[in-house]
Amino acid sequence: MCVVTGAAGVLCASLTEDLLRHGAKVAVLDLRGDVARKLCAAFARKGLKDTLPVEANVLDKASLVEARAAVLKKWRHVDVLVNGAGGNHPKGTCPAEQMEKGTPLADTFFGLEQEGFEFVNRLNFVGTMLPCQVFCEAMLKKGGAVLNFCSMACWQPMTKVAAYGAAKAGVMNFTSFLATHLAPMGIRVNALAPGFFITNQNRFLLLEKDGKTLTARGHKVIAKTPMRKFGTPSDLHGAARFLLSDEAAFITGVTLPVDGGFMCYSGV
Ligand SMILES: NC(=O)c1ccc[n+]([C@@H]2O[C@H](COP(=O)([O-])OP(=O)(O)OC[C@H]3O[C@@H](n4cnc5c(N)ncnc54)[C@H](O)[C@@H]3O)[C@@H](O)[C@H]2O)c1
Repeated sequence: MCVVTGAAGVLCASLTEDLLRHGAKVAVLDLRGDVARKLCAAFARKGLKDTLPVEANVLDKASLVEARAAVLKKWRHVDVLVNGAGGNHPKGTCPAEQMEKGTPLADTFFGLEQEGFEFVNRLNFVGTMLPCQVFCEAMLKKGGAVLNFCSMACWQPMTKVAAYGAAKAGVMNFTSFLATHLAPMGIRVNALAPGFFITNQNRFLLLEKDGKTLTARGHKVIAKTPMRKFGTPSDLHGAARFLLSDEAAFITGVTLPVDGGFMCYSGV
């Protein structure tokens, strides 16, 4: 059975549906318990009934331990953990790409609020570490597989998203650490690094308020993506299923880009 955190979000709701369609049983964990419950009801209407909606906070170990108890009560063990909860926040972002003479200080690195910086770091980094601690413990007897969520910003920082890039680089490093640490226990730990998908966390950076027109940054992303498009959630399905399956039995500690070529293209 699989535990998916952030399962009510754009990418992981889609990923969860794909796992269910391939026969998995899925605990649908999210801070927004009401959305998780509605999502499971919608899955059930499509005939996908092996779900358990669980309201849980990835930043609160007690809440995760409670979630684990609910999961183990229903299914007795955990085979897979997908750490989907995460994202960016405008408060962890510098509005100016670069600081020039005359750029208002508030729009630069110097205007970045500690609260916003810490929020984004904690959500992505600690919010990956704690679920691993809680749910991998339930894999110790039989082994299992973990899938973390990284980003293009892991390898090369992006302008504006100061906190997010640092946090996701931390997740990539942690993925290698945990893969090494748990390999003798038969637990594999890998990550996906999605390129650019239009979702709630980055809509404000890539699209104007009309929701259609690309911002200057949106144009830059498309120009640097050899496939000349944003990803859609289903683009992650095959990569996720592969890394979580026995087909990847000798693969651990990798972060796999799913990015339309963004990483491989220098822009020139
Ligand atoms: N969208 C992209 O282009 C993109 C690119 C690279 C990486 N990612 C990563 O993919 C993952 C999913 O992204 P998304 O765009 O679907 O995000 P999303 O905002 O649609 O979904 C995130 C989900 O996490 C939940 N969540 C937030 N805080 C939580 C907490 N404390 N405890 C439990 N759940 C919590 C939210 O309720 C939400 O349902 C994130 O880790 C994100 O950083 C996204």
